[in-house]
Amino acid sequence: AVGGTVMFTTTLSPSEKPFSSVNWSFNVSTTIIIFVINAENIIGPEYEGRITFFPSTASLELRSLTLDDTGEYGVNAVHDGTLLNGRTTLVIYEKVSNVLVTSSSTDLVEFSGSVSLSCSASGPSLSFLWLNGSSEVTASDRVQLTDGDSSLTIVNVTHFDQRPFRCRVSNPVSTVTSDPVNLSISYGPENINLILSPSQGYFAVGSDISLTCSVGSRPPAQFKWFLNGDQLLDTGSELRLMNVQMSNSGNYSCQASNNKTLRSQTSEPSAITVLEKISDPSVKPSPNLPVEGISVSLTCEAIGSAFKRNWMKDGSDLTPTDNMILSDNNRVLTFDSVNRKDNGEYFCNISNPVNSEGAKYIMIVNYGPENVQIKGPNKVNIKGTLKLTCSAESTPTARFTWFFNGTEILTNSAEYVREEVELSDSGNYTCQAWNNITERTSSSVVHGLTVTGICKSSGCAAGCIAGIVIACCVIVAAAVGGGCYIYKKK
Ligand SMILES: *[C@@H]1O[C@H](CO)[C@@H](O)[C@H](O)[C@H]1NC(C)=O
Ligand SMILES: *[C@@H]1O[C@H](CO)[C@@H](O)[C@H](O)[C@H]1NC(C)=O
Ligand SMILES: *[C@@H]1O[C@H](CO)[C@@H](O)[C@H](O)[C@H]1NC(C)=O
Ligand SMILES: *[C@@H]1O[C@H](CO)[C@@H](O)[C@H](O)[C@H]1NC(C)=O
Ligand SMILES: *[C@@H]1O[C@H](CO)[C@@H](O)[C@H](O)[C@H]1NC(C)=O
Ligand SMILES: *[C@@H]1O[C@H](CO)[C@@H](O)[C@H](O)[C@H]1NC(C)=O
Repeated sequence: AVGGTVMFTTTLSPSEKPFSSVNWSFNVSTTIIIFVINAENIIGPEYEGRITFFPSTASLELRSLTLDDTGEYGVNAVHDGTLLNGRTTLVIYEKVSNVLVTSSSTDLVEFSGSVSLSCSASGPSLSFLWLNGSSEVTASDRVQLTDGDSSLTIVNVTHFDQRPFRCRVSNPVSTVTSDPVNLSISYGPENINLILSPSQGYFAVGSDISLTCSVGSRPPAQFKWFLNGDQLLDTGSELRLMNVQMSNSGNYSCQASNNKTLRSQTSEPSAITVLEKISDPSVKPSPNLPVEGISVSLTCEAIGSAFKRNWMKDGSDLTPTDNMILSDNNRVLTFDSVNRKDNGEYFCNISNPVNSEGAKYIMIVNYGPENVQIKGPNKVNIKGTLKLTCSAESTPTARFTWFFNGTEILTNSAEYVREEVELSDSGNYTCQAWNNITERTSSSVVHGLTVTGICKSSGCAAGCIAGIVIACCVIVAAAVGGGCYIYKKK
């Protein structure tokens, strides 16, 4: 390079014997230096102060190079009586300078413009290379390199071309890179996306919701917001809905527009549904008490936006049987003809996407009385105790009324007890059951009783032989029911 330094070395290796003489010349005729052993060096006038000669190797250093130093260099050396010579050619170049990039435009719109960058520089033997960011630009459909690569044309710019472009200029002696040229490429809006936070579409009344419109755009886009297609007053990339009410439900969308590209894009609508939380759940029976055979219904209610109702019975999902009908979207559970098998705990779970609540009802089906039975002895000894118990299948528990030979003798007791029975207590005991809810009375059940006389008193006890007593009793009892008493008196 101009101004640089060059070292001419020879292939001669230093030896014990020094060179007798060395002669360096330029373009054959111009003397650079004549060296003769033990004599003063002769130096050409153009080389005064610019050279250093190394006698031991016959090498030569030449400094402060100018374009005029381009040419052929030769050396003759006498060593040990032999003449040796060599030659070489030196080319001096100017260094690259004044590298400058000019651009046809720096303000561009994506897809609707092309740009030409042109690189200029001073110096000989220049070659050009373009850098896009840190990578080398190569020619393609969109990218043309012309004028010995010094011009770069990008057709149909995209926003990916928004990188600093630099031109790198080289020649054999130097490389210089230009300052970066920044293209401003307007683009978009593109890839619009409406993001809800929280991200679900259902919200409870009172929630705070944030909608963010994200979009790629340069310069930044301007926003409009729409609810069910009607424009809202809000502008800005974020729409905040505080303390939402059901009236805030609807389809939201945002529109972004770019005032440079004059393009706009609208997002897909995002549905927001605001729901009242479910509260105060209840399962209410129809006003008539559940009596077997009649129709009964349970109604599942709550305050709030009910979406779904599920019924359970005794902890498992309810499988409706023949006599059940679920209607009004599971709101009403009707028993066509309620049966005692329908007894149990009914649970209704009301849910919507925001919460769920449940309520229960314990069903007790009233029925009966049925299957009335009297338990107790059919024979009681005179003076013994008579205890009769009446039972019936009934819900609620039945009330009982007792009759003797058709005459009422006791009410409201399942047990009829009579101590010290007399012979006159023999006869028909009747029990009748009554259910105060079903208001049904059972058919009567008759229980026959015989009071028997025995030889239990003083006469026999005083000295009779047991065998006689037994015989007497057996005979008398067998003969006449009431005879024993008379006989004893006798
Ligand atoms: C510009 O480039 C885009 C994407 O590469 C392409 O869709 C569009 O057709 C091009 N436009 C022209 C005018 O070449
Ligand atoms: C610049 O580099 C980016 C990223 O590598 C690339 O997408 C774009 O096409 C390049 N542009 C040119 C003109 O080479
Ligand atoms: C274009 O949009 C940018 C960014 O939103 C804004 O700064 C600029 O003022 C707008 N220019 C016009 C003319 O509206
Ligand atoms: C929201 O959009 C959906 C589907 O696009 C539609 O079914 C629904 O009716 C819309 N809601 C309102 C409130 O417009
Ligand atoms: C009520 O239903 C909802 C939605 O189906 C469910 O998540 C929840 O666990 C149910 N609750 C009960 C107590 O079964
Ligand atoms: C009760 O009826 C039985 C059988 O009909 C009869 O033998 C008995 O004398 C009656 N008793 C009374 C106290 O009426």
